[in-house]
Amino acid sequence: MYQIKTLNKIAQVGLNELPAETYTIADDTAAPDGVLVRSADMLSAELPESLLAIARAGAGTNNIPIDRCSEAGVVVFNTPGANANAVKELTICALLLASRKVAAGNKWLDAQAADGVDVTTVIEKGKSQFVGPELLGKTLGVIGLGAIGVQVANIATKLGMNVVGYDPFLSVNAALSLSRAVRWAKDLETVWKESDYLTLHLPQNEHTKGIVGKDAIAAMKDGVRLVNLARGGLVDKAALIPALESGKVASYVTDFPDNDLLKLPGVTGLPHLGASTPESEDNCAVMAARQLADYLENGNIVNSVNLPAVELPWSGITRLCIIHRNSPGILSGITSALSQESINVENMVNKSKGDYAYTIVDVNAEVSLESVAHIAGLDNILRVRALKR
Ligand code: MLT
Repeated sequence: MYQIKTLNKIAQVGLNELPAETYTIADDTAAPDGVLVRSADMLSAELPESLLAIARAGAGTNNIPIDRCSEAGVVVFNTPGANANAVKELTICALLLASRKVAAGNKWLDAQAADGVDVTTVIEKGKSQFVGPELLGKTLGVIGLGAIGVQVANIATKLGMNVVGYDPFLSVNAALSLSRAVRWAKDLETVWKESDYLTLHLPQNEHTKGIVGKDAIAAMKDGVRLVNLARGGLVDKAALIPALESGKVASYVTDFPDNDLLKLPGVTGLPHLGASTPESEDNCAVMAARQLADYLENGNIVNSVNLPAVELPWSGITRLCIIHRNSPGILSGITSALSQESINVENMVNKSKGDYAYTIVDVNAEVSLESVAHIAGLDNILRVRALKR
């Protein structure tokens, strides 16, 4: 029986993927095997020894202590693409909000009505203060061409925008899905310089924090319009505030506002609505639960942010799942521990991702607890599990 702890409300359709005969799901489990989380902040949470995996129902993982998880041999999953359509649709809305002063016009009208004014008498006179440009023919820079960025770039071409995309880690899948009308920039400077509108679709991490900073803003066109539904920290607030005050940045539409930003001209704040659709909450929950179950039951890893993708069809009666540092000598240590028990390896796969690696070993024998403990005690091994078919 696996214990699953939920840290947010997870859509029922996702929980249905974890049947009661194999899983106990609760929000107060002390020793969980797996955690299902949406945006709860786990950065300073303790990771219990029992914990094998955290599945985030969403794309961003900046609420999860990735480095600590890796060192503790805890796999962190996310659900790339599951909410891409929801975010794409809101991005189109945000581009329009960045242009057409819809939010300001709506606020003004509500304020008139609240003051007892018959709004039908002021609409025509008042509307001139809410003029904003069209998207057609303008250049949109899309930073980050993952599942969301590709969809945004493609649909923006259909709105008649010239689209220039940037992603130094463009995957083969993304490249194949990208419309041929989207130009691919070799460097960020080109995107900053050419864009009338910019939209961010990249994760926030130590490399991307503050990517829209003083120098980037200085390189942009005057009156650039910026959309950020990705993460607040991608934009350096200290650089953005004077740019909004001077009109260098004409508008900033963000899912991550704060009180300082909301006071400034041109800012439209949304309460992190990017993925807030029933469809996307369901998609994310199902994908997160399936990935978690496949790891717990079969040791397969798909869509992990800290470990490589590794899948192996079962070919023995015992499967060893070994998370380790990406260091030399690990595989020989594992195989020699098994050969000491005269156990023959049926099948084996090993892949690495940065500083960490994952190995699945299928054997057609029982593996003693002593051997498992022996492997777990080898240098640079972080976690060993023995699964039975
Ligand atoms: C994501 O990271 O998937 C989106 O920002 C939505 C969310 O955080 O739930």
